[in-house]
Amino acid sequence: MYTQAMDLPTPAHEQIAARGPMTLTEREWQAQFDAKLDRGDFIEAKDWMPDAYRRTLVRQISQHAHSEIVGMLPEGNWITRAPSLKRKAILLAKVQDEGGHGLYLYAAAETLGTSRDEMLDALHTGRAKYSSIFNYPTLTWADIGVIGWLVDGAAIMNQVPLCRCSYGPYARAMIRICKEESFHQRQGFESLLVLMRGTQAQRDMVQDAVNRWWWPSLMMFGPPDGESTNGGDSMKWGIKRIGNDALRQKFVDATVEQAKVLGVSLPDPDLRWNEARGHWDFGPIDWDEFKAVVGGHGPCNKERLATRVKAWNDGAWVRDAALAHARKREAREQRAAA
Ligand SMILES: [Fe+2]
Ligand SMILES: [Fe+2]
Repeated sequence: MYTQAMDLPTPAHEQIAARGPMTLTEREWQAQFDAKLDRGDFIEAKDWMPDAYRRTLVRQISQHAHSEIVGMLPEGNWITRAPSLKRKAILLAKVQDEGGHGLYLYAAAETLGTSRDEMLDALHTGRAKYSSIFNYPTLTWADIGVIGWLVDGAAIMNQVPLCRCSYGPYARAMIRICKEESFHQRQGFESLLVLMRGTQAQRDMVQDAVNRWWWPSLMMFGPPDGESTNGGDSMKWGIKRIGNDALRQKFVDATVEQAKVLGVSLPDPDLRWNEARGHWDFGPIDWDEFKAVVGGHGPCNKERLATRVKAWNDGAWVRDAALAHARKREAREQRAAA
């Protein structure tokens, strides 16, 4: 996977331009693209696609990749403090999975002609966003269970529809990622179930963690559909299949029932079953908090970014060594072929 960032194929649109005058007009390319979407066919890396579609995908997939990588930080923080060997092994595996998700996704975004170095530069200089949820701190061991249950649970709701997204490489990456996210959600729930069967202090710790993570988890679905700036085009292009509000409602409906099994309460006095709608009603979300955290003013934004930049700088010698090795091998192969 590492070499992909160093040896990028020429982007499909440049290949087309390099072939000389097009045999079809741009309008005809667009018509073919639209017909593919209508048939439900995948758009593949070498297919013609509108620039705006390509840009939207690069923004979304790279943002998703950054979220996976930054998401390793709040949990990685607890690997040395997991309460048993079993929990340590599970957490270690989960954090490694998240790293793998980031790598699949960077590879998927690279097929659109943007290099991994460019994407990482955008992250490190603060131009690219990642999920706001990872800017909250993990204060106790129960936070790790709650992240699995609520944060990975919300991620699954968001990501399952992406397995049918119109861009083939993204959809295929998501199939594998969703299988692993489902394990993450279950391990979180199981870990909380064990704590809830423990002492009163353990139950209080779980409830405190649920109180802190509930609202940020609901914010993970993004602003209401009417205010979402990218939603319309993404729907039209089959990148997004279900709106933010419908996904959020689905998550609330599933989670309320799981909270009953756990024996925790959700910190929302307006939460009640609405017979007419067939869904749980919930209270207003504090979008000012969401905007502040997305805008860089969450509790851990600076710390998360500084940790990623340090990791990138500390890893420079590995990248240099890998490049030097690749150049040597190439030179050897050229000598052998001569
Ligand atoms: Fe993940
Ligand atoms: Fe996960």
